[in-house]
Order: sequence, then C-alpha cells, then structure tokens
Amino acid sequence: MPSQPRELRLASRPDGAFEAANWEIAESDVPEPADGEFLVDVTHISVNPAMRGWMEDKPSYVPPAELGEVFPAGGVGRVRASRHPRFADGDLVFGAFGLREVALSSGRGLLIIDPDAAPPETWIGPLGDTGLPAYFGLLEVGAMEAGDTVVVSAAAGAVGGIAGQIARIKGGRAIGIAGGPEKCRHVVEELGFEAAIDYKSESVSERLRELTGDHGVDVYFDNVGGQILDDVLINLAFGARVVICGAISQYDTTGTWRGPANYWQLLVKRARMEGFLVLDFAKKFPAARAEMLNWIADGSLMPSGEVVDGSLEDFPAALRRIFDGANVGKLILRI
Ligand SMILES: NC(=O)c1ccc[n+]([C@@H]2O[C@H](COP(=O)([O-])OP(=O)(O)OC[C@H]3O[C@@H](n4cnc5c(N)ncnc54)[C@H](OP(=O)(O)O)[C@@H]3O)[C@@H](O)[C@H]2O)c1
Repeated sequence: MPSQPRELRLASRPDGAFEAANWEIAESDVPEPADGEFLVDVTHISVNPAMRGWMEDKPSYVPPAELGEVFPAGGVGRVRASRHPRFADGDLVFGAFGLREVALSSGRGLLIIDPDAAPPETWIGPLGDTGLPAYFGLLEVGAMEAGDTVVVSAAAGAVGGIAGQIARIKGGRAIGIAGGPEKCRHVVEELGFEAAIDYKSESVSERLRELTGDHGVDVYFDNVGGQILDDVLINLAFGARVVICGAISQYDTTGTWRGPANYWQLLVKRARMEGFLVLDFAKKFPAARAEMLNWIADGSLMPSGEVVDGSLEDFPAALRRIFDGANVGKLILRI
C-alpha cells in the first residue's frame, strides 16, 4: 500500500495529439471507509483508445472528463479495510476506479474476479473491456453467422484480435487488417485468421477484392474508420452488416472527422451500418464471459496482450503506444 496514495488528474485538453503534460499527478485524499465501503489498492489499469475521446469537451456517450479531476479508468485492484458485507479483504475486484493508486468504493458496479479461473489481465481484456465489445459487436450487432466472411480492422489489437477469433470459432472466415508484416503474421499464425492485409504497404480495397471475390464482405467489424472504412465499403456483400466499434484513425483529429465517402454502397448492397456501446449489453455479460472462459480453457480463444510495469506517471506513454500502433493485443499498466 502506498504511504500517501496518488492520482492522475486531467490538467488540460489536447489540441490534436495528446501529451504527458495534459495530466498532472497529485496526492489523493482517501477517507476512511464508512459502513458499506472499502478501499481498493489498484494493481492493473486498462489502457484503451477511448480515453482519448474522454479528454475532449464534446458531446459523447459519457460526459467529458473534468479538468482538475481524476481521469476515468477501469482496472483491477485488491480490497482492504472492508466494512462491506459482500467484499472481503483480499478479494480481487474489476471495475472503474479512475487513475488512482487507492480508491474508496461502495462496491457499486464492481465484479469480484476469480484469479483461479483467469489472471487479472484476462479479466480486463478478453473477459472485460475488449472481449465483450468483440463478442456483442460481432454476434449481436453484426449478426454474424457460420459461413460469413468477416473483416476486422486493428486486427492485432485488443478488440480486433478477439473479434477475429470469435468469427473463426463461430464458423466464419476471418480476414484481418493490421499495420506491418509482424502484426499480420501474428494475426494469421497465432490468432488463426485466414488472411491478413497490411494496410501500410498494400491496397486494402484491391486485396479485399482478391480475397473475397464476387461475394464480398458479410460483416465488417470496424475499429478504425477513415480510409480503411471506405476500402471495405466498396467491397461489401449483399445484405452486409458494418459494425462501428471505434474510429481510432480519427481520435487525434483537430476539427472535422473524415466520414465515409462510399456510404452509397449501403444502398447498392442493401447493407446496414450500426454503432454500439458495449455497456448496452451489460445484462448479458455473465453468459458471454462464461462462453469465452470455455473457449480460453479449450484453447480456441487466445488471450493476447502486454503488461507494462510502471506507475501512474507512465500512463500517458502507455496510451501513446496504442496511437503509435506499438501494442499487440490488450495493453495494461501494472502499478
Ligand atoms: N464500442 C465500444 O463499446 C468499444 C469498447 C472498447 C473499445 N472500442 C473501440 O475499439 C477500437 C479498438 O480498441 P482497442 O482497445 O482494441 O485498441 P487496440 O486495437 O488494441 O489498439 C489500437 C490499434 O489501432 C491501430 N491504429 C492506431 N492508429 C491507427 C490509424 N490511424 N489507422 C488505422 N489503425 C490505427 C493500431 O494498430 P495497427 O498497428 O494495426 O495500426 C493500434 O494498435 C477503438 O476504436 C476503441 O475506441 C469500442
């Protein structure tokens, strides 16, 4: 337990790419738990691209992070000083603690995790922030069926890597789009996608045409937006579903985001494009976690990711790794 716990606050909003100076470290004033409360020593912080959006003062699916306030973040920690009947000292919990070393909690929204079933990294990644959007985005929003040709962008990333594996498990053809030969190799050889397209050195639209022929793409799981979205739209199958999970290519943009130029293909192919937020499916999380735990246990779903050891000060550099494409799989900061 840190002697004087600290927290990371949003100090300013970025203009374009974010910098470490957009956050400031401060000492936390953590009160003694009252009845029904406990402390959490945060051990693992989930680093994800959506955090870039939370820095903006713009209408979104969550209110903007406040200047001078602790920056929001999810993660895992260990319970102590519990005065709560359902949370015992030593329990591992997964939830939203913010960028804090120590959090005071009432237990609301927290999940007690079983480290014997899976390590904290797996609860945050495949069973949490990244596996759940992959699962519901693909199977519910994308209505993926066996035999579908499924294309996934940011395929070597946290959400994309799981989405492609679920497509394979459910009997689809998974084609990944990723940056660079090493990521493309990882996607095919380790995650079991049928093929991968290196968007940094290949024409995505031409390679998709070669790989999917006259049939085209039944489900596009989009994590990036921008040019790649347009390249897939021009290759849609009849009745295709385009799932908008994210648009990381646009998050650092100052001014107007680039929208899809080829949207007309939705009419031509009688296709639909639909965005979603994973929290919309919260009631179904336990069943999805149970199914994914089975896949992990039987070896069909491979958790992929990297843990960076450090402290709160290392958070901005960890987030930068995602925007530089330096991460493979789920990125976690262990403090
Ligand atoms: N809808 C939801 O409920 C929900 C929930 C969680 C996450 N998300 C979204 O899902 C997406 C993936 O999140 P994640 O946590 O899994 O991140 P991630 O894929 O692990 O990391 C992002 C990856 O995006 C790629 N990338 C970065 N800049 C790019 C650019 N300009 N053009 C194309 N690719 C770029 C990089 O891979 P390369 O090296 O291959 O370029 C990078 O590794 C994000 O858009 C996130 O906001 C949505």
